[in-house]
Amino acid sequence: MNLKDLYIDFFVSKGHKQIPSAPVVPENDPSVLFNTAGMMPIIPYLMGQPHPYGKRLCDYQKCIRTNDIDEVGDTYHHTFFEMLGNWSLGDYFKKEAITWSYAFLTEVLHIPVERLAITVFSGNKFIPFDEEAYNVWKSLGIKEERIAKLEDNFWIAGDAGPCGGDTEMFYWRSNDPIPLVFDPEDDRWVEIWNDVFMGYVKHEDGTVEELPHKNVDTGMGVERTTAILEGVNDNYASSLWKDVIALISSIANLPYEGNEKSMRIIADHLRTAVFISADPAGIRPSNTDQGYILRRLIRRAIRHAKALGIDMHSDWEQQIAGLIIDKFKNYYKELETNGKVALEVLANEKIKFNRTLEKGLKEFNRVTEKCENIDGTTAFHLFDTYGFPIELTMELATERNLKVDEEGFKQKFKEHQELSRTASAGKFKGGLAGNGEIETKYHTATHLLNAALKIVVGPDVHQKGSNITSERMRFDFSCDHKLTEEEKQEAEDLVNQWILEGISVEVSEMPKEDAIKSGAECMFIEKYPDIVTVYSIGEVSKELCGGPHVKNTSELGTFKIIKEEASSAGVRRIKAVLEEK
Ligand code: ALA
Repeated sequence: MNLKDLYIDFFVSKGHKQIPSAPVVPENDPSVLFNTAGMMPIIPYLMGQPHPYGKRLCDYQKCIRTNDIDEVGDTYHHTFFEMLGNWSLGDYFKKEAITWSYAFLTEVLHIPVERLAITVFSGNKFIPFDEEAYNVWKSLGIKEERIAKLEDNFWIAGDAGPCGGDTEMFYWRSNDPIPLVFDPEDDRWVEIWNDVFMGYVKHEDGTVEELPHKNVDTGMGVERTTAILEGVNDNYASSLWKDVIALISSIANLPYEGNEKSMRIIADHLRTAVFISADPAGIRPSNTDQGYILRRLIRRAIRHAKALGIDMHSDWEQQIAGLIIDKFKNYYKELETNGKVALEVLANEKIKFNRTLEKGLKEFNRVTEKCENIDGTTAFHLFDTYGFPIELTMELATERNLKVDEEGFKQKFKEHQELSRTASAGKFKGGLAGNGEIETKYHTATHLLNAALKIVVGPDVHQKGSNITSERMRFDFSCDHKLTEEEKQEAEDLVNQWILEGISVEVSEMPKEDAIKSGAECMFIEKYPDIVTVYSIGEVSKELCGGPHVKNTSELGTFKIIKEEASSAGVRRIKAVLEEK
C-alpha cells in the first residue's frame, strides 16, 4: 500500500471522515492564486462553521506553491505537491493528535523511534510554552534531548486567519551516526509532519484572539515522506517520479545523471500543468493570474526539453503528461474526466510557444551581444512579441551572467495594461481574504447575478469562476456571445428587483443527490461531500455553497454592472459593484 492509502485508512480507523481534495484555486479568496496547504479549503470550518462531514476529517489535498518555481531542479522542490492532513474541528486536541501521529509514524510506517526528533512551541509574549505537547511526547517515550523548544513553532497561512502553536516531527535522513541530542539547525534532520493546535485567530489588523473551540490541523508532504520511506535522497528517484524520469530520459535519449536539473523541471512542471489544466476551476494559459502561472510552467518545461535536444515535433509532452495522468487518475477523478483537456492545453501551448521560441532566442542573443544588461523595454518586447515570460528572460540572463531590469519591465507591463485595459495582474503573494460584511454581500450578489443571467441569457449559463474583493465582484460564466446592452440592463434590473423585494436567504443541509435533483446549482460537483450545504434565496436561486451569505437580500444596496468582457473561449466575465442605497 502506498502512503496516501495508509494515511487515510489509519485516520478513518480513528473516526475521521475522508473528504475529497478541493480544486487547486481557493473559492472566493482573491488574495491567493492557489491552495498552498491542505488546511486552506478547511478555513471556514476551523473558524467555526459546522462541516457537513462532522468534526474529524482527513484528506489528501492538491497544493501549488508558485514561489518555488525557480527552485525546482534540485532534489526536493516541487511546484505541485500533495498534502496529507487530519483535522479536529473542536473535537480531540493535543493528546490524541500527538498519540496518533506517533502511532502512525512508528507502527504503520515503521519508522524507528531513534530516527525521530520533535520541536514544540516555546511560547512568546502572548502565548505560553506548550507544556502539554511536550509532556505527551515524553510520555510516549521521546527523550528530552530529542525535543527542542522553539519560538518559531507557530503556524499561520499568510497574514491572517486561524493559527496556533505547533509541534513538528523530524526524521534523521542520513547514514551518519544518529546524534543523541537533536539539533534543529542540522539539516540532516528533515521535517516530515506538522501538528498545529489552532486555538487562535489572527485578524487583518494584527490582533490575535482565542477561538471558542480548539482545532487540530496537520500536514504531511507526500513527496518527501515517500522518498524517506523508500530510502532515496532525491525525491525524483522515489516511486512517485522514477517512471516519469525514466520516460523523459528515454525520449531525450540521455541519462538522468548529468541532466538532472532539466529532467526534474520537465517532470515537475508538466505534472503541475496537468493538474492545473484538469482542475474543475477551468484555468487555461493566459497572461494573468493562474493562467500566467500555467503558461510559465509549460513554457519553462518546453525550454528545458529543447535544451535536452528533444524533438519539438514529436508528441513528447503528450507521452509524459499521459503517464502522469495514468499514475494519478485513481486518486483524482478530474484527471480521468479532464485528462484529454489537459493534453490539448499542452499541445496548443507548445505550438504557440514553438512558433516564436526560435525567433525569440535569436532576438535574445542579438540584443545581449551588444549589452550587459537587458532593459525593461527589451524584456517587454521579448514578452509581448515572442511570448517570453519575464522569468524566462531572467533565467536565460542568469545563465549568461547578465542582469535584467525587472522593475523597468513591470513599468512597461503596467503601461501596456493600462493602455489595453486588460485585467489586473500582480496578485502573486499570500495572505487570506476577509470574509467581512462587504465580501459577504458580494457573495450573495453573485448568486443573484447567476440566477438573473439564467433568465436573461438562458438556462445554459453556468458559473465558471468568481472572485470577490471588498471593492467589487467578478463573475465568470459560460456564454457564447458578448452580452447586448439590453441583456446587461435586464440582468442588473432583475438583481435590483430581488434586492428590493427583501427575500430572505435560507441555508439547509441535505444529501448531495437530493440537492442536485432539486435543481441546485453547483460549480465543482466533485468537490462536495455526500451531505452538502445549500443556500436558497426564495424561489430565485438555490446553490450548493459554503457561504457565508447575508440574511436578507435587502441588505445588499444597489447592484451595478460596470463591465462585461470576454474571459476565455466561451466564457464571459462581469464585474459589478454594490453601492449604498
Ligand atoms: N497547515 C500546516 C502546514 O501546512 C499543517 O504545515
